[in-house]
Amino acid sequence: MSKKLLIGNWKMNLGNVKSAELADAIMGLAAKNTGYEFWVTPSTTALATVAKMTAGTAVRVGAQNVAGDVTGAHTGEVSVSMLKEIGVTYALTGHSERRHVYGESNELCAKRTLGALAQGLTIVFCVGEKLAEREKGETLAVIEAQLSPLKAGWKPEYQKQLVVAYEPVWAIGTGKVATLEEITTTTQSIIASWKKMFASECPPVLYGGSVDPTNAKLILGIDVVGGCLIGGASLSAEKMAAIAGS
Ligand code: PGA
Repeated sequence: MSKKLLIGNWKMNLGNVKSAELADAIMGLAAKNTGYEFWVTPSTTALATVAKMTAGTAVRVGAQNVAGDVTGAHTGEVSVSMLKEIGVTYALTGHSERRHVYGESNELCAKRTLGALAQGLTIVFCVGEKLAEREKGETLAVIEAQLSPLKAGWKPEYQKQLVVAYEPVWAIGTGKVATLEEITTTTQSIIASWKKMFASECPPVLYGGSVDPTNAKLILGIDVVGGCLIGGASLSAEKMAAIAGS
């Protein structure tokens, strides 16, 4: 992946109509701004609409979570084949809101990820520490514990289907962005840990957590950062244009 990625995570915002409007604006931005790849992650009910609109364009559409299981008795879950059928090509897994608000364990996040990778979906696997963990110097240990259960079913061919997103929990939706030094050193550590744990190159590592037009340029300028996962600011086409510098 040579271009840096700008992924909008729309979370539980925007219904079908508003998602289509925003997707339209992002398509316009992507057509003009070829310096970045633009991926959008609408709510489940808007996925089909947005996937249809963006088919054949540079914009990729993803789900905010996905089941690892293929089919069956999993009330409330969405499978890879359901997503693929409507043109969705990636999903987030392990987002901090899934882990910390909805109690998804490291093992469950890894199971979702490995199951979806095995079925050919691209995954943006989110990792990150809480503030108390950073203050105790446990950041890397927490992230390695989040990555570790992926090792069990890992196959080298999954490498090109995976993106890692480093999102410090304390920076998500708080306006409290990590410093450039924190982002740089943590990303470098994740890359080194990945190489050690998986004996292969690390997939692209994005940064997420209060990215907005005031800080994006410097964050995207960090060599080891492969792009940004953007929540709040991604709900505004104008802010996304400013983040992309166009
Ligand atoms: P934020 O969210 O940009 O609103 O902090 C980022 C995310 O949760 O992916």
